[in-house]
Amino acid sequence: MSSVLLTNIKELVMAMDAAPAIIRGTDMQVLPSISNAYLLIEGEYIAAFGSMEECPERADQVIDIQGRMVFPSWCDSHTHIVFAASREREFVDRIKGLSYEEIARRGGGILNSAARLRDTSEDELFEFAFQRLQEVQSFGTGAIEIKSGYGLTVESELKMLRVIQRLKEVADMPVKATFLGAHALPTEYKQDRSAYIRLIIEDMLPRIADEGLADYIDAFCEKGFFTVEETIQLMEAGAKFGLKAKIHTNQFNSLGCIEACVAQDAVSVDHLEVINEKEINSLKESNTMATLLPSAPFFINDPYQPARKMIDAGLPVALATDYNPGSTPSGRMQFVLTLACVKCGMLPEEAIIAATLNGAKAMELEKEYGSITPGKVANFFITCPMPSIAYLPYDFGNDLVERVFLKGKMVKDKRGR
Ligand code: NIG
Ligand code: FE
Repeated sequence: MSSVLLTNIKELVMAMDAAPAIIRGTDMQVLPSISNAYLLIEGEYIAAFGSMEECPERADQVIDIQGRMVFPSWCDSHTHIVFAASREREFVDRIKGLSYEEIARRGGGILNSAARLRDTSEDELFEFAFQRLQEVQSFGTGAIEIKSGYGLTVESELKMLRVIQRLKEVADMPVKATFLGAHALPTEYKQDRSAYIRLIIEDMLPRIADEGLADYIDAFCEKGFFTVEETIQLMEAGAKFGLKAKIHTNQFNSLGCIEACVAQDAVSVDHLEVINEKEINSLKESNTMATLLPSAPFFINDPYQPARKMIDAGLPVALATDYNPGSTPSGRMQFVLTLACVKCGMLPEEAIIAATLNGAKAMELEKEYGSITPGKVANFFITCPMPSIAYLPYDFGNDLVERVFLKGKMVKDKRGR
C-alpha cells in the first residue's frame, strides 16, 4: 500500500482521533484543528496525523504544503444535479416581480424541468450530470446526495435514478440517491391528487426498490405541492422498502411536517427557512438532522434560515447547496458557508462543522467521511494560502480550493494555471 505524507500544514481542520457522529448546539463553536501539522495517508485511508514535531520520517511520497491548510472534503447532502436545462427565464421573471410559487402555479418551475427532462436521453443526462459532479468536486465536495424529481412519470423517474446509479459507479466520491417522485404534482393529476400518490407508491417505488436505485425517499411538503398527510403516506411507503426519509419542508410555510418527519425518524428535514419554536424542540429530541440550504433563499430572494436560533437551542445543523436549475444553480459549498455566516448568523467554525461532519451524518456517511480521522476515507482538500480559517467564508467569490484529494489520490491541482 503506498503512503503519502503531507507536511507543514498550517491548520489541519476537523482533525479528530475519534469523531462523534454529529456535533450539536454550542459545541459547534469549537472547531477541532491542529496547527503546524502532518497528515499521513495509506492507500485510500487516513492513517495518522499530529504535530510536525512528531512527523514520521518517511513515506512513499512526501508533499510539503508550505503552510497551507487542509480541510476534510465538503459533504453536500442535498442536490438535484441531474437536470436537462437551465431556467434563467424564470430568474428574469422573478426580477420582474413574479414569485417562485407563482411561477410554479403557472406551470414553470419543477414542471418546466420535468418537461425538458422527458425529451432528454439518459446518456445526455448522464453527461450533463457528470460534468456538474466534476465541477463540484473541484470546489471541494467529496461526498454528495443526488435527488430524482424532475421525472414525475414512472419512466422518467427511473431514467433519472439510473443516471444517478451510473454516477455512483464512476464517481471518486460516495453518492447517495434519493427518490423524489413527489416533487411537484403533474398537471394531468390536478383533479386527482391521490392517483399520483398511488402511482408513486404502487408503480414507481416497487420498481425502484427492485432495481436498488434509491437510498432515500423525499417529498416537497409545501402549499401548492404536497400535504403533510401525503408526505406521511410516502414516508411510510418508502419505509416498507427500506428507504428512510429526507424531506423538503418549511421552505415557505410551517405546516406541521417537521413533527411528522421526526415521528418517522427521518434522516433529515431540509430547507427550514420558516421554523417555529415547537418545531425546533421536536427536532431537539430526535435523530433528524436540520439541513439548511441558504443559497436557495439567496437566489429566490426569500428570508434566510434562522440558524443562530436553532444552534443556540441545541440543535445540530448541516449545510448543503441544493444545486438545482430553479432555486440554486450553484454547487459552491464555499459560498454556502459565506451565506450561512453573513445571512444566518453562523460562526465560521459552526459553518465548517455543518458542511463536513454534520453533512456526512445527513447522508449516514459519518463513519467514513466528514472529518480528518484515522480510518476514514482520505477525501480532503488543500486550500490556497490563507491567513486564518475564517478567511475561507470571508473571501467569497474566490475559489480557495487549490488541490483536491479523493480516496488518497490528487484529482485537482490548480497551481500554475
Ligand atoms: O429544494 N423546493 C423544492 N425543490 C428544489 C427546487 C426545485 C426547482 O425549482 O427546480 C429546492 O429548492
Ligand atoms: Fe432541494
